[in-house]
Amino acid sequence: MEIGYFNGEFVPLEKPVIPIDERGHQFGDGIYEVIRVYKGNPFMLDEHIERLIRSGEAIKLPFTQTIDDFKLLIKQAIETSGLKECSVYLQITRGIAARGHLFPDVPVSITMTVREAKPISEDIRNKGVSTLLLEDERWANCYIKSLNLLPNILAKQKAHEAGCFEAILVRDGVVTEGSSSNVFYVKDGVVYTAPLTRHILPGITRIAVKKVLKTLELPLMEQQFHEEELLNADEVFITSTNSEVLPVVKINETVIGRGIPGDITSQIYHQFQELVSAL
Ligand code: PDD
Repeated sequence: MEIGYFNGEFVPLEKPVIPIDERGHQFGDGIYEVIRVYKGNPFMLDEHIERLIRSGEAIKLPFTQTIDDFKLLIKQAIETSGLKECSVYLQITRGIAARGHLFPDVPVSITMTVREAKPISEDIRNKGVSTLLLEDERWANCYIKSLNLLPNILAKQKAHEAGCFEAILVRDGVVTEGSSSNVFYVKDGVVYTAPLTRHILPGITRIAVKKVLKTLELPLMEQQFHEEELLNADEVFITSTNSEVLPVVKINETVIGRGIPGDITSQIYHQFQELVSAL
C-alpha cells in the first residue's frame, strides 16, 4: 500500500499532516532524495544518503540522524508499505516555526512517501524521447538537492507543452543537465558528460553509469560541452532515478543520429539493468 510518513509516524497519503508553519512549504527550506526500490531493495542507498547529508550540510540543516538512522527509516518505510517495485521520496526541512527568514531553533521535519514505481513504458524506451533546449535559469548551487524546484518545473512544463519529454538546460552557452536528469552524449565511441560543478546535481544514476562504462570498457570524458556538440552527437541519453538510462532521439528540431536509440546507449541501458538485477 502506498504510504506517507511525517515526523515519526506512518500516515495514509491522503491525511493532511503538514502544519501551516512548516518551512518546507513556506520557503522550500529543505532538501530531498528520490530513491528507486527494485524487488524490495533500495538502489544505491548509501550514495543517496551520502548526497542527502551533503545537501543538508550545504544548507546548514541541524539534523541529528546518522547515515544508519536514515537507512533504517527508509527500510522501515519500504517494509511498512509492503511494496516491492516502488519509489521512496524523502524530504528534510528546517522544521516548524512561526514564519521568519532567520533559522529557527527547532528540530528538522522529515517527510517520506513510498509509492508504486512508474517505470518508463517500453514503447517510449524503444522509440527514445524528444527534448527541448532551454536557458538554465536556476540558482548557482544546483549541486544541492534543494526543494526549490520552480525553474525546473517551469522548464519541464514548457518542454511538455512543446511535445517533449525533458528540457535540457544551457547556462552561458554550456549544457548543464536536464530539468530532472543528467545528460550524456556519445561521439565516435566516446561518452561525454558535464563535469561535477556547482551547476549540476551529482546524479546517483550518473554514478551507476560510470560503473557501467568501466565494465563495458567504454571511455568517458567529463568535460564541459555546448549545444552544438550535443546536436552533432551520434547518440544522446539522459539519466535519472525514474528514467534510468533513456535515449534522446531529437533535440529541438534536430534528429540525433539515425533518430532511433543508439547502440552504445542500448548497451549501457542493458548493463545498467544487470546492476539492478544484482540487487
Ligand atoms: N531528480 N539533475 C536534476 C536537476 C535532478 O532533479 C535529478 C533527479 C537528476 C538525476 O539524479 P539521480 O540520478 O540521482 O536521480 C539530475 C529526481 C529524480 C526528482 O527530482 O524527481
